[in-house]
Amino acid sequence: MIISNWKMNGSKKLIDEWIDFVSQNLEIDEKKECIFCPPISYLDQAKSLLQRRCIDIKLGSQQIDSNLHNPLTGGINSEMLIDLGCEFVIIGHSEQRMRLKESNLILSDKLQSSLEMDIKPIFCIGESLEQKNKKITKEVLSSQLNAIPDNLVHECVIAYEPVWAIGTGENATKTYIEDIHSFIREELGNRLNSINNISVVYGGSVNLENYNEIYSSPQVDGLLIGGASLDAETFTKIYNNK
Ligand code: PGA
Repeated sequence: MIISNWKMNGSKKLIDEWIDFVSQNLEIDEKKECIFCPPISYLDQAKSLLQRRCIDIKLGSQQIDSNLHNPLTGGINSEMLIDLGCEFVIIGHSEQRMRLKESNLILSDKLQSSLEMDIKPIFCIGESLEQKNKKITKEVLSSQLNAIPDNLVHECVIAYEPVWAIGTGENATKTYIEDIHSFIREELGNRLNSINNISVVYGGSVNLENYNEIYSSPQVDGLLIGGASLDAETFTKIYNNK
């Protein structure tokens, strides 16, 4: 699975151009899902363009608010995401964890809200540089995984994104990623009845130079790509693997 996370980038024009290019050049393989997560403001436009082009790119939101019944100005809930055509939602991205001070409690409410509506979460976890240097990466990841409900039966994507690798140009090495991904599977295996519904993907400075090595690992089910995915040609080359 290859996921494009546009973060807070883009415009109507860029969405138009990107979809125009990828829909003509992506060689969609049904065993390799392609997921596009533009800013919420462009989801509707993206949905119409993708439908018009008849291309199997799934839509993901970068945002969801829990379905709590209190008013929330600016909020977006799971029913709205379904209405917009989203099949996936990114939850727990480190930029939101930090800026919005998202706790495990908030994140587990968000996970619950997406799962109730059958929207597949792309749940991001990762250690900071300081935590890595203190050698507490696995403890940190284990505690972040506590937000996942014990009775999880739906499809769920865990995105391992070391904070020190996001947008820095410094990706984690294949060996490092393999060790962490197998740890994630082991942790979830101890908590859940089955992990057959879980994919573990890597994100953090994935680009044209490093994607192939990382994606070739049997421990890596997919890639979550930020900066490099803004360029339609680069994203297409990564997806097509050529
Ligand atoms: P990056 O971002 O590829 O620009 O490092 C990845 C992400 O934050 O999802």
